[in-house]
Amino acid sequence: MTAVPPGAAAGSSPSAITTATASANTNIALIKYWGKVDEAQAIPATSSLSLTLGGTRTTTTVSFDGGDGAADSVTINGASPSAVELERVTRFLDLVRARSGVTAPATITSRASVPLAAGLASSAAGFAALAAAASRAAGMDLDGRELSRLARRGSGSATRSVFGGLVLWNAGHDDASSYAEPVACEMDLAMVVVVLSQRYKPISSTLAMRATMSSSPLFPAWVEASGRDLQVALEAVRAGDLARLGEIVEGNALGMHATMIAARPGIIYWLPQTVAALHAIRAMREEGLPVWATIDAGPNVKVLTEGARAEEVAAALRDRLTGTAVSVRRPGGGVRIEEGPCP
Ligand code: DP6
Repeated sequence: MTAVPPGAAAGSSPSAITTATASANTNIALIKYWGKVDEAQAIPATSSLSLTLGGTRTTTTVSFDGGDGAADSVTINGASPSAVELERVTRFLDLVRARSGVTAPATITSRASVPLAAGLASSAAGFAALAAAASRAAGMDLDGRELSRLARRGSGSATRSVFGGLVLWNAGHDDASSYAEPVACEMDLAMVVVVLSQRYKPISSTLAMRATMSSSPLFPAWVEASGRDLQVALEAVRAGDLARLGEIVEGNALGMHATMIAARPGIIYWLPQTVAALHAIRAMREEGLPVWATIDAGPNVKVLTEGARAEEVAAALRDRLTGTAVSVRRPGGGVRIEEGPCP
């Protein structure tokens, strides 16, 4: 399958292209990625499974035009990025330059369609869009698998945002074997996002997973359990069994948090409202609603549910969790080359 349709600059050969725009949606992991066995190559400790969410695109334009003269010039959501963000983008572009032979610094403009405060802040959409735009602008013509391998070097979760719908990231053991691929899914799934706090996360996932791997006595057990969870999740998807999928999704996320809470010192992303939301979701389940929680590297909760009942679930969550922002997200598509520049 081709993730990037041709057409960035119709009529010109790929090697002539120096500017390209691409967009990607973010994704939420159903079976989590937490820990890298090889940081330089971004090879994860476990395979993971995610749902790409519609309406969450980040659009990025890359021009290998000399940047600000000496370095890459980066604008994210109309502002200059932090020094750490800038270095991460430049390191990623250095990879693209090394592979393509392009040497010029670049101008990068990126805009997310969903505000950071929506609880979906993620490097996944950003690096998937950057990988597609930068590789295309540098004249490389990557297929979906190659693009997911490249995006992986920017941020692990970006590996999966290259594709739409349900996506499996095969952990693999080296650069060539660690890539994402779409998974057939007939199920009607949706995610209801509950924003409990708009505070930025206190510690980045990169640092938190490094600390978990090096100091949590539960990490080896997590890796083992996660492999089994993935198999059960894939079986549940094949069988179209939402309750089975939901149970394993919630259990996997709680297991990931238990593992990091056991790091020394413990990493606690949860706030009191996070725990309250988990209890509310259990109570809703007992009342017959198809709802299962998942939580990433932050305090907010995402609720896996049936697409047809997502609005009903969102209304019930708003009732129970007053003062929170609740939004429904449905499955969305993968990376896309865009005609015009980033807005
Ligand atoms: C909890 O992809 O943000 O969301 O690879 O270091 O950039 P880096 O980490 P990142 O980690 C995502 C962790 C997670 C789980 C998941 O998305 O699978």
